[in-house]
Amino acid sequence: MTAKIIDGKALSATLRVRFRQRVADLSGRGVQPGLAVVLVGDSAASQVYVRNKINACRDCGLASYPQFLPMDTSEKELLDVIERLNQDENVHGILVQLPLPKHIDMRRVLEAIAVDKDVDGFHLYNVGSLVVGNSIFPPCTPYGVQLLLDTTGLDVSGQNVVIVGASNIVGKPMALMLLQREATVTVCHVKTRDLAQHTILADILIVAAGVPNLIGAQLVKRGAIVIDVGINRLPDGRIVGDVDFEAVKERASWITPVPGGVGPMTVTMLIENTLRSAERRIGIGPGIGADGWDAAIQPVNTN
Ligand code: GUN
Repeated sequence: MTAKIIDGKALSATLRVRFRQRVADLSGRGVQPGLAVVLVGDSAASQVYVRNKINACRDCGLASYPQFLPMDTSEKELLDVIERLNQDENVHGILVQLPLPKHIDMRRVLEAIAVDKDVDGFHLYNVGSLVVGNSIFPPCTPYGVQLLLDTTGLDVSGQNVVIVGASNIVGKPMALMLLQREATVTVCHVKTRDLAQHTILADILIVAAGVPNLIGAQLVKRGAIVIDVGINRLPDGRIVGDVDFEAVKERASWITPVPGGVGPMTVTMLIENTLRSAERRIGIGPGIGADGWDAAIQPVNTN
């Protein structure tokens, strides 16, 4: 069996066509959706991520408000910037790029972002709403994974999902989202003994560990759907995921490539959340349906 490719670039492009229409609708009502992107310091990786987010805004017709702050910015100065953005009605979403420098308390900063502009979904209020199943702003990476899974046509209800990686940004919110969709969810992490014992049972395997080639074919059940969230730069400059793509694609039914899988979706879902924020403010848009956060975007089938 050779797996079919879950194409994040194509899905992203499809979604962005719809986003431009939503931007045009907002514009017809006198609103230009805007995203503030805050970066403290000069980490090369963070600069790339922030540039991608700003480019995505331009691509879809949103305004972006970059806030580049020096490494020695104090916590108080950063909180003042956030407060100003909270008050600015041109700003519909605020994103503080992580990680922050060590002298700044990340929790305090994330809690300072207005909950109705928290398009990353990292404020405790939004984390809590994910727990009870009606999040307004699902965190972007797991939100993107959810839509990628939808393109396979598989109903996750009752499926064994194994998530490798228990971060606040990916693993934990991913588990909550899939639990909401009635999957049987296992979360593995660095202390998990005998990883293979868990992963081999997965109908859907989602890997977000940050370890190149962590998942070889022998860890994957035949016919599984494999989602690789990892983005690792090798010493030779190549970008690879956490999954041994060449080996695992001979065993899985569906697989995401790296690059071109989850990565493009993360940025695209940030735009979705920002648009939703702008629409909510003026009382239009898809909103959140009776069955929770996932009603905000209908599944897209690109096959
Ligand atoms: N750093 C790594 N991933 C993310 C993300 O999704 N959002 C923010 N704000 N920072 C990150």
